[in-house]
Amino acid sequence: MKKIDWNSLGFAYMDTNCHIRYVWKNGQWSAGELVASPQMSIHIAATALHYGQSAFEGLKAFRRKDGKVSLFRPEENAKRLAMTARRTCMAEVPVDMFVDACKRVVRANLDYVPPYGTGGSMYVRPLLFGSGAQIGVAAADEYTFLVLVTPVGPYYKGGLQAVKAIVLDQYDRAAPLGTGHVKVAGNYAVSLYPHLEAKAAGYPVELYLDAKEHKWIEEFATSNFLGITKDGKYVTAKSGSILPSITNLTLQQIARDNGIPVEVRPIAFEEVTEFAEVAACGTAVVVTPVSEIERAGTVYKTGPATGCGPVLEKLYKTVQGIQYGELPDTHGWNVEVE
Ligand SMILES: Cc1ncc(COP(=O)(O)O)c(C=O)c1O
Repeated sequence: MKKIDWNSLGFAYMDTNCHIRYVWKNGQWSAGELVASPQMSIHIAATALHYGQSAFEGLKAFRRKDGKVSLFRPEENAKRLAMTARRTCMAEVPVDMFVDACKRVVRANLDYVPPYGTGGSMYVRPLLFGSGAQIGVAAADEYTFLVLVTPVGPYYKGGLQAVKAIVLDQYDRAAPLGTGHVKVAGNYAVSLYPHLEAKAAGYPVELYLDAKEHKWIEEFATSNFLGITKDGKYVTAKSGSILPSITNLTLQQIARDNGIPVEVRPIAFEEVTEFAEVAACGTAVVVTPVSEIERAGTVYKTGPATGCGPVLEKLYKTVQGIQYGELPDTHGWNVEVE
């Protein structure tokens, strides 16, 4: 293993000892093997390549204050992957197998879990795809499930930093009855181009509205939307075409635990200025405060210009505190790998 400078880790792929790989054939999953090489050979007619039968998940493992390593809510990712598998006619990965795969691969790469105190974590990336050959548009008869891991650094080196977001009305992310609610690979391919446009205009994140009316807030490209109202409520969007974020569910529970009322309901875009704080939430960053949102040349202020408001800060610190074993894990979210 090469020496890692834990303090300069970003969010980038790094080779580790191994990944774990399973194959589904004739209605059965293999036992799963740890594979050292990050390369694999794949059939040229695999359905993942031609027809997008491919889905992924993202979760993290943390080195806690007590030295143990735990995964954060892996069953939730397992259930979401199963939902994506059903929607895309892929073989389902049973929840137990999914959690066991994550534990086995993290255990085999413990040296790569950033030490407690560095603010880093191990990013865990499960991937399921059609590896069987098919030339007509049809589901594959063979699937591969693998889990790779890579160490990542803290997103915020010194405190939470606000970003600016943009609505690009010329693009939609997901149709009302489409696949926005599942984590199918194609959802991300189509988001790359709008993301480049947003970046070129100086906005690190883009916010999508509903595809039918362009009236209701949906979500950011890779994270859910949440707002804290001026009277202290946690509000997040209800829609059948957004990805059910596990971080969002976690934050909602922490909000309730702290006496903050939670509303999951349609949010009209005009409502953005009613919020005292707005954030994007997801596994990679937990929360990203959003200070303003631009739409069609108008800038809407949505939170403090820099840093972060008090409610988001409290929620962020609580999630991280639980993940690193500094605060009691009253909901049993941490799953130890050893
Ligand atoms: C479209 C989208 N929304 C939301 C999220 C956040 O979900 P989670 O909190 O489970 O990481 C993600 C990341 O997986 C995403 O890709």
